[in-house]
Amino acid sequence: MYIFSILGSPRKGSNTDLLIDEVLKGAADAGAEVEKIYISDLKFAPCTGCMKCRADQVCRLAPDDVNMVIKKLDRADGIVLGAPVYSGHVPGPFKSLFDRLIGQVVKFTYTGGTVNITSALTPKDRNGVVIGVCAAGLPGMTDAVLEFLKRNIALHKNNGTIREISADGMVSYAQVNIGAEKFEKTFGPQGQAIYENGQSLLKLAYEAGKNLVTG
Ligand SMILES: Cc1cc2nc3c(=O)[nH]c(=O)nc-3n(C[C@H](O)[C@H](O)[C@H](O)COP(=O)(O)O)c2cc1C
Repeated sequence: MYIFSILGSPRKGSNTDLLIDEVLKGAADAGAEVEKIYISDLKFAPCTGCMKCRADQVCRLAPDDVNMVIKKLDRADGIVLGAPVYSGHVPGPFKSLFDRLIGQVVKFTYTGGTVNITSALTPKDRNGVVIGVCAAGLPGMTDAVLEFLKRNIALHKNNGTIREISADGMVSYAQVNIGAEKFEKTFGPQGQAIYENGQSLLKLAYEAGKNLVTG
């Protein structure tokens, strides 16, 4: 079983990155082959909106890293997508990737004025994990990110299951996995609670990774 993941945060080693790693650890411990790519490493041009791909799933731009991403999505038995909240949505470069993908991984057919959308990837049941990370401790701040990522996996999941992880209150770099001692110094009396929240998120991520494989 092959699990493919994309980190939508531009910073490596970030909260989102650490949570994805924990999902992949769970999946690998359950026997999966795992791979992660970083949005910040990908070279691709933004969608120009020509809409020609809607007829034949072929992008008219010169081939770039998006072609590699499509091949990995097609091969994937499980998909993990994680992103921080940037101004209420996923970071711009990550959104650009999905703008390029949509016309190539989905078939659009038209019947009686209705647009039908079906996956253009090899049909299989794909489980998924989506991760949304934000600084605010407000309920619902990661909703738009989780919904967007979920919809992009749902297109290809067939009978698979998608699990969600929402991490709010992430104000510091790699906060999810900083040791308790450092937390006491940075956050004072609240340090222990923040540390425990990070640990429980990592545990949730590990279990979600195992479930990607075991169903
Ligand atoms: C440009 C930018 C916009 C942001 N917008 C929001 C926001 O709308 N709501 C929020 O709660 N946090 C926002 N944040 C904070 C990040 O979501 C938060 O720091 C998160 O932990 C970053 O994830 P990472 O550590 O995986 O990179 C923003 C951060 C940046 C850099």
